[in-house]
Amino acid sequence: MPAIEIRDLRKSFGKLEVLRGIDLSVETGEVVCVIGPSGSGKSTLLRCVNLLEEPSSGSVHVDGVEVTDPDCDIDAVRRRIGMVFQQFNLFGHLRVRENLTIAQRRVLRRSRAEAERIATENLHRVGLAEKAHAYPAQLSGGQQQRVAIARALAMDPRLMLFDEPTSALDPELVGEVLAVMRSLAAEGMTMLVVTHEMSFAREVASRVVFMDGGTVVESGPPEEVFGSPREARTREFLHRVLEPTRVSEAEIGAHPVAPHGSAAPSGR
Ligand SMILES: Nc1ncnc2c1ncn2[C@@H]1O[C@H](COP(=O)(O)OP(=O)(O)OP(=O)(O)O)[C@@H](O)[C@H]1O
Ligand SMILES: [Mg+2]
Repeated sequence: MPAIEIRDLRKSFGKLEVLRGIDLSVETGEVVCVIGPSGSGKSTLLRCVNLLEEPSSGSVHVDGVEVTDPDCDIDAVRRRIGMVFQQFNLFGHLRVRENLTIAQRRVLRRSRAEAERIATENLHRVGLAEKAHAYPAQLSGGQQQRVAIARALAMDPRLMLFDEPTSALDPELVGEVLAVMRSLAAEGMTMLVVTHEMSFAREVASRVVFMDGGTVVESGPPEEVFGSPREARTREFLHRVLEPTRVSEAEIGAHPVAPHGSAAPSGR
């Protein structure tokens, strides 16, 4: 049974059809990376998995439970899904350790001692055991994101959803977050990851899914999607993201500025 099974998923916001029939499954232990241009529906797809967005039609199963069934106990399903966003969403008024214990105690009803033990364990896992008593504002962005990952892990998730977890970070902080994600993948965590980090996807993904315009254009092992993409749209996208400095003015419809002094527009 797949960890996630998405069938003919559609989602519209008013007249805008954002997802146009997505079929995608993620097996237990797989790391599936979703790539694609801005606005292609990647976040919406991820948010439909735990019903942060309600699909317009189609079905989503998580561990065999149909979350799109109106009778589904969605809170029970969400408890098994860890989600990490671009913005870390830590509680600023709580210390790191409390950020990790609050949901364990309220949602999973763990005792304070047990929740604290599990918090410590997971802070170790992301290399931040010494920050348990810090406030989020005292941490770097990369450290805050690692805390957010530890917080999700403290809930013993069956699978993790990541929505561009490194795109709000300064470039020098990206590596530490990817390192944590890489070690999670190596431990066998099931992960569905929306990312702009092509080298991470290439190295860590079991499968890469390229989305454009609300559809899955192409999916396959990273060496195929990156090495010999079948679809022209995939090739164009990869060309743009992998070699941004090579995109010419013609490709984006821009007109080179005329040399200074010649043919200047006759303003007023
Ligand atoms: N709540 C909403 N209401 C209306 N439109 C929305 C809503 N959420 C998303 N959209 C629209 O749906 C489309 C897909 O958005 P989505 O955030 O899923 O794209 P994305 O692939 O994640 O893009 P990015 O790479 O920029 O994060 C966009 O056109 C967006 O404006
Ligand atoms: Mg997005």
